[in-house]
Amino acid sequence: MSTDKPDVVASTFAPTADLPVIVVGETVVGAAVVQDEPKPAGASQAAPQTQPALAGWPPRFSCFVTGTDTEIGKTLASSAILHALVQQGVRACGMKPVAAGAEIRNGALHNDDADMLIAAGNVTMPQSLTTPYMLMEPAAPHIAAALEGVTIDPVPILAAYLEIAAASDAVVVEGVGGFCVPLNDSFDTADLAQQLDLPVILVVGLRLGCISHALLTAEAIAARGLKLVGWIANEVQAEMAFADENVAALKQRIGAPLLGRIPRLGQPTAAAAAEYLNLAGLPNWPTRRNNQ
Ligand SMILES: Nc1ncnc2c1ncn2[C@@H]1O[C@H](COP(=O)(O)OP(=O)(O)OP(=O)(O)O)[C@@H](O)[C@H]1O
Ligand SMILES: [Mg+2]
Repeated sequence: MSTDKPDVVASTFAPTADLPVIVVGETVVGAAVVQDEPKPAGASQAAPQTQPALAGWPPRFSCFVTGTDTEIGKTLASSAILHALVQQGVRACGMKPVAAGAEIRNGALHNDDADMLIAAGNVTMPQSLTTPYMLMEPAAPHIAAALEGVTIDPVPILAAYLEIAAASDAVVVEGVGGFCVPLNDSFDTADLAQQLDLPVILVVGLRLGCISHALLTAEAIAARGLKLVGWIANEVQAEMAFADENVAALKQRIGAPLLGRIPRLGQPTAAAAAEYLNLAGLPNWPTRRNNQ
């Protein structure tokens, strides 16, 4: 790949001695950092120039969970997917690569999303891998990062993903806010999903305005050359007027299966939400293993 930027690491990453060495090719890492100008919203994207991060590995379930907005149920849905994976008997790990809004408890940084994902999975990994960027301020990530003098860099996130994938059978990566949230001046969460090259699951928070948000997000996912493999309707509001009609309008227009509709739950736990999901049709969804 030709670029006038300095050559950024073609990292060779060996997660453990027993596992295959994974080469993150120049294009994977380089493409993450060579964009000079922020892209206008809706600008068409070139097809990803990356090799899938885990090319050559046996098929495994991994996904990137995005949403129509912030606070619409991505963490609840991601945790429910992890819970369902654990129920299938596989080693499942969640990842919240960038979390904005942390507090110190018992001497350690905590973020609610990161904690819930860790609790729903069954693989213990250092938090520095499951959340490489844990930021204190509950603000847009690039702002929260700037407050700490940090620039969010995709390379550690990609490396962490590979290490987690090496230790797990399945990985669920939760995005930040909506699909196009900036992470630095030239890189956003959509770029991150593209670099990870993961199938995408879209969580639609059922509230007024969600139809357009959902359809725009589906378009943006396709424009990045990513596959939307399913969407989840989540009743974030106690009683939304015409909720059924909204879901029907989305079913008609989104070219991916509805994986379930999570009602407003009294106890919004991973297990409770998982009851409402049917994930068996997802690509590489594991068949049940009786090894627990
Ligand atoms: N179906 C539901 N029933 C009850 N509470 C819900 C439901 N969905 C989400 N919530 C609650 O709404 C809040 C936001 O949900 P969640 O944290 O999953 O959103 P998010 O999209 O991950 O937000 P963020 O953008 O901050 O990551 C949480 O307190 C969660 O428990
Ligand atoms: Mg969340």
